[in-house]
Amino acid sequence: MKTKTSSSTVVRMSELMTPENANFLGKVFGGAILSLLDKAAYVTASRFAETVCVTASFDRVDFHSPVEVGELVHLVGRVDFAGRTSVQTRIEVHAENIHSGTMRHTNTSIITMVAIDDAGKPTAVPRIVPENHDEKVRYLLGRSRYRMNRTRQQEHAEREARLEAMSETELDNLIASDAVEF
Ligand SMILES: CC(C)(COP(=O)(O)OP(=O)(O)OC[C@H]1O[C@@H](n2cnc3c(N)ncnc32)[C@H](O)[C@@H]1OP(=O)(O)O)[C@@H](O)C(=O)NCCC(=O)NCCS
Repeated sequence: MKTKTSSSTVVRMSELMTPENANFLGKVFGGAILSLLDKAAYVTASRFAETVCVTASFDRVDFHSPVEVGELVHLVGRVDFAGRTSVQTRIEVHAENIHSGTMRHTNTSIITMVAIDDAGKPTAVPRIVPENHDEKVRYLLGRSRYRMNRTRQQEHAEREARLEAMSETELDNLIASDAVEF
């Protein structure tokens, strides 16, 4: 199987935030940043997998500080971990005030992309080889996230099936009980 080092997966992209990206407060729409994150994840994963990738999931996205119109947004993407066909990308976003040169971190997101072959089916990707301490930490965190996501998805589907099978009275009792396990 083909292997690639973590450091070889780094992708850098930048985009100027123009007025059409503004929300009603004059800051940049969160959705504009999500779109950039998705593009950066696409480039990072597809370059690594050497084929088209589709977005399978976004992990939680927190915005720590607003991005201003007129700022230059820098995105740094890298592959933390890859399963058989899925590629876990980590995208760091920084906003630069181009007049003062000051730069601040606005968010970091984990986006899972899946490599797709010519028939539209998931296809195998290279194995990722972490080399330094930070890459090894990110690899292990990525692997545990990959495993937890699979377990969580299965548990959620089972919980949904149990709830769907309940009567309305049983559902009312659960709501009244404030239960978190069902
Ligand atoms: C993502 C997609 C290709 C997965 O297809 P699937 O038939 O479920 O494929 P599989 O069950 O074989 O899973 C393939 C891989 O995707 C991963 N995967 C599937 N759904 C996932 C999810 N929601 N989150 C993270 N990974 C996911 C699996 O873990 C597996 O990874 P692995 O091969 O590394 O173990 C399919 O759900 C799809 O096409 N989704 C739409 C993607 C898209 O169009 N995105 C843009 C939205 S506008």
